[in-house]
Amino acid sequence: MLLITHLAFVKMLLKLCISSVHGIFGSILKKVCLWVDKQVPSRTGVIESVKNERNHAERTAKDVTTPTSVNYHFTRKCNYKCGFCFHTAKTSFVLPIEEAKRGLHLLKEAGMEKINFSGGEPFLHERGDFLGEMVRYCKEELQLPSVSIVSNGSMIKERWFKKYGKYLDILAISCDSFDEDTNQVIGRAQGQKSHIDNLFRIREWCQDYKVAFKLNSVINTFNIDEDMTENITQLNPVRWKVFQCLLIDGENAGENSLREAERFVISEQQFQDFLNRHSSIKCLVPESNEKMRDSYLILDEYMRFLDCREGRKDPSKSILDIGVEEAIQFSGFDEKMFLKRGGKYMWSKADMNLEWISRVR
Ligand SMILES: C[S@@+](CC[C@H](N)C(=O)[O-])C[C@H]1O[C@@H](n2cnc3c(N)ncnc32)[C@H](O)[C@@H]1O
Ligand code: SF4
Repeated sequence: MLLITHLAFVKMLLKLCISSVHGIFGSILKKVCLWVDKQVPSRTGVIESVKNERNHAERTAKDVTTPTSVNYHFTRKCNYKCGFCFHTAKTSFVLPIEEAKRGLHLLKEAGMEKINFSGGEPFLHERGDFLGEMVRYCKEELQLPSVSIVSNGSMIKERWFKKYGKYLDILAISCDSFDEDTNQVIGRAQGQKSHIDNLFRIREWCQDYKVAFKLNSVINTFNIDEDMTENITQLNPVRWKVFQCLLIDGENAGENSLREAERFVISEQQFQDFLNRHSSIKCLVPESNEKMRDSYLILDEYMRFLDCREGRKDPSKSILDIGVEEAIQFSGFDEKMFLKRGGKYMWSKADMNLEWISRVR
């Protein structure tokens, strides 16, 4: 009887030992697992990065163009009437937001690092909320290094900066003259509203909401003799793109075009004279017709690449139907010229020296 009681006691002790050893090992094991999880990316992360590397290797082997920097003209509608405009309101189509996001995701998978939203006027559709949501999606979800917009500026409100400013790297505003009458003649205006006052207001908002401010100007017969040095110095943009007015068949020249821009066209020499007059401005980036024509990857409102090699905009099939790799073969993109015109620059505000944040002088 005594022996049975002893055996039962030993059995109980053994059980107790096993369960505490189990407990101790269990918690050590849990801690080790947690630590390993922190050091090594998740399984899906590893799979994703292996997949990306494989995609990249396959693409390089096939010598496929990478869509590093893409311009998405998601709308053609505009509230201005610039007489030289080369992207006119031929349709009023805009993709549903989920389709636009799907396309942006495809571009990211194909290697996109920078997206620029353009138009038409990008702030027109849904009062800028459609644009804002794409900007947020590209920065927050796709984590693109650079998200930018080019706009005439007339529809931008401070509430837009409050809501979406943190997702935007660069805002480019187009201004071709610092003379209101010239802007009226060009058509760079809505009614009698001052394009220039608005430009300076937006410059301040860029300052306040930490968005890099850029300026675009189209040099044409109506502004060719202007000296913009003082105003540009005051605005102090990170980059001042100076374009020679370009003709595109079917857009601003030839049959079926909505604009006739021949009267705006200037010669190479006239363009050079304008550049010489502004040679003291360090942020000036000139773009002659030759540099501009094929050095942009342009997507239209259907997400079709536009090939400008023949002097018109010939569309590919949509990347939403055939994928980026196939569509990009019909883009006519000249990567060498893209690099030559300085297409790759410091385009992420995270990398920028915050000098540009200095107040408007
Ligand atoms: C088509 S607009 C669309 C964005 C916006 N509506 C704006 O004007 O900024 C994009 C850029 O192209 C420029 N642009 C328009 N027509 C041009 C032309 N014929 N030659 C060179 N640049 C042109 C505009 O000044 C603007 O900087
Ligand atoms: S260039 Fe002028 S007309 Fe053309 S989209 Fe821009 S603001 Fe509108």
